[in-house]
Amino acid sequence: MTDASTVAQASQDARNSFTMIDNRTGQSWELPIIDGVLGPSVVDIRRFYAETDMFTYDPGFTSTASCDSGITFIDGDAGILLHRGYRIEDLAEHSDFMEVCYLLLHGELPNAQEKAKFEHNITYHTMLHEQMVNFYRGFRRDAHPMAIMVGVVGALSAFYHDSTDINDPHQRMVAQHRLIAKMPTIAAMAYKYSVGQPFVYPRNNLSYAENFLHMIFSVPAEDYVVNPVLARAMDRIFILHADHEQNASTSTVRIAGSSGANPFACIAAGIASLWGPAHGGANEAVLRMLQEIGSVDRIPEFIERAKDKDDPFRLMGFGHRVYKNYDPRAKVMQKSCHEVLEELGIGEEPLLKLAMELERIALEDDYFVEKKLFPNVDFYSGIILKAMGFPTTMFTVLFALARTVGWVGQWTEMIEDPSQRISRPRQLYVGNEPRDYVPIQQR
Ligand code: CMC
Repeated sequence: MTDASTVAQASQDARNSFTMIDNRTGQSWELPIIDGVLGPSVVDIRRFYAETDMFTYDPGFTSTASCDSGITFIDGDAGILLHRGYRIEDLAEHSDFMEVCYLLLHGELPNAQEKAKFEHNITYHTMLHEQMVNFYRGFRRDAHPMAIMVGVVGALSAFYHDSTDINDPHQRMVAQHRLIAKMPTIAAMAYKYSVGQPFVYPRNNLSYAENFLHMIFSVPAEDYVVNPVLARAMDRIFILHADHEQNASTSTVRIAGSSGANPFACIAAGIASLWGPAHGGANEAVLRMLQEIGSVDRIPEFIERAKDKDDPFRLMGFGHRVYKNYDPRAKVMQKSCHEVLEELGIGEEPLLKLAMELERIALEDDYFVEKKLFPNVDFYSGIILKAMGFPTTMFTVLFALARTVGWVGQWTEMIEDPSQRISRPRQLYVGNEPRDYVPIQQR
């Protein structure tokens, strides 16, 4: 990780610099280059405007590093995803979500004692203030659960005032724990409300994933026994979505937090950003797309539509801003998908067959090969979640639940970074030149 001092040191090292020339005037500037531990180096343009009176221009931030971070590393060309240096495949295979949460927040894997303490802290924050139940009753029954999530998570700051002082490390830690702990409860209540069933309280004797399945699927009328294969798959889905570097929702959380907003408000902003179909909403869109395609013989028609510039249709679950190779999370998800469907006795699920055939055909198609469009994490997750019994509208909610740890970890890293300032991008103005006000009678 490059901290502020190494940044300053690199800035002084003139050998490590990038020359920029304004061809209009012949004037040139030396910009410091800063190396990270892995991945592309960056050209430090922080003094660029002050020295050149020009901005850099990068809509969509395709060439911009917005911060330095030691949490997650992605090599999109090689299809590598590391959390604190550990490969996502290893974490998905050998670890569990609570351990990954600890790793993301603290930088190291916990020992047995640290893990037990962390799990205890999370477990004992899972209940919601009882008055929050009133919030749910204010929503329409057919409200999208993501709409409920944005509202209820934003409202947490009204209930947990004692963990909103961002300058107090203890309050920050309590807010982290509360957010990770309460998110499954909030999500499950959003679901229960939509289906008209009573809310189910968390149970402290269950693991994080088991407890979530219990709050979603149990009803007071009968006992609910959590299937261990499904609990493991749920836990793995949480691991695969835990963090993903400076994606749209994480950047939203950082930008919201850069003004000093409280963590609950920032995470609500992240949930809003995640909702979009180009981001977390894609898993919902994948399932709708597979259902629309319907049968293997219609795949070529949809592949052609995805390639047609005049058709807004895109192959959902395909392509990624960073991965130009197979998304490593998609591989784990595909394996998990088979395990879950086998366990549920629906190994021949037509949607899975359709998805696999669609993937095969797309990966052989020149358009997708040339543009390096591979399946992403969302391609198989919808099939597993549907098989487990989740309605489509809950898919993005599960993504938000799992990503909460990444959001709070990145938010904390930003707050603790001494070089942090309010995020305030500039623009290339293309509007009107100054003009005189025209009274309404003369327009
Ligand atoms: N189907 C058809 N063509 C595509 C697709 C697709 N899924 N994705 C990208 N392209 C084409 C795109 O039209 C463009 O072509 P051209 O260069 O001829 O204009 C080229 O590939 C590059 O695409 P882009 O839109 O410039 O790339 P981006 O980095 O701005 O967008 C993306 C990345 C993920 C938004 C996009 O690939 C997409 O819309 N995919 C479908 C939605 C999806 O699965 N999203 C989940 C992302 S992973 C989970 C998450 O991060 O939340």
